[in-house]
Amino acid sequence: IPIIILMVGVAYLCGSLSSAVVICKLYGLADPRTAGSKNPGATNVYRLGGRIPALLVLLMDILKGTVPVYCSYWLGIEPVALGIIAIAACLGHIFPLYFGFQGGKAVATAFGAMLPVGPELAGLIVLSWLAALFVWGYSSLAAIVAVALAPLYTFFIKPDYTVPVAMLALLIIVRHKPNIQRLQRGEEPRVWDKRGKLK
Ligand code: G3P
Repeated sequence: IPIIILMVGVAYLCGSLSSAVVICKLYGLADPRTAGSKNPGATNVYRLGGRIPALLVLLMDILKGTVPVYCSYWLGIEPVALGIIAIAACLGHIFPLYFGFQGGKAVATAFGAMLPVGPELAGLIVLSWLAALFVWGYSSLAAIVAVALAPLYTFFIKPDYTVPVAMLALLIIVRHKPNIQRLQRGEEPRVWDKRGKLK
């Protein structure tokens, strides 16, 4: 048990590194917590600064999920406890300790935390995300669709991980409430209108 508690703490601290804020500062861009959608994540960094900084944010945010979960898996921690550690990494991203608790939506971090389940799941999630993005054009909706399908895919690939993946998916969907409301009002910007009409 103590090792699980330790890894929950490590995961929260990893998740708390708000790479969007750091990368925007390094590139001299606006603070992603106050500009665009006000969300410190890869999508908003793309809006504010284009592809390269967004890719860096995506990569770092993915690693924040992968590293603590993979280390925990390597230490022999069981699936449900791995799910709790993954949630701790996402909660770090959502409520970051070092960045005034103003975090993002943890899509990349949750994806990173799901990577240790295996390449089949990762591939299916990426394909679902790309397909939804291609059809509708909304990053948020693509993320919602991809994470909502993830537990189903997991059930067929590694059933033991269905519950932890579902817990993560739920957290991500709940965190997209403002996006869901914007989608309903028809106000969510598509990724290809870079200067989307965000208020
Ligand atoms: O990946 C985050 C995305 O789902 C929503 O970001 O900036 O459009 O609220 P944003």
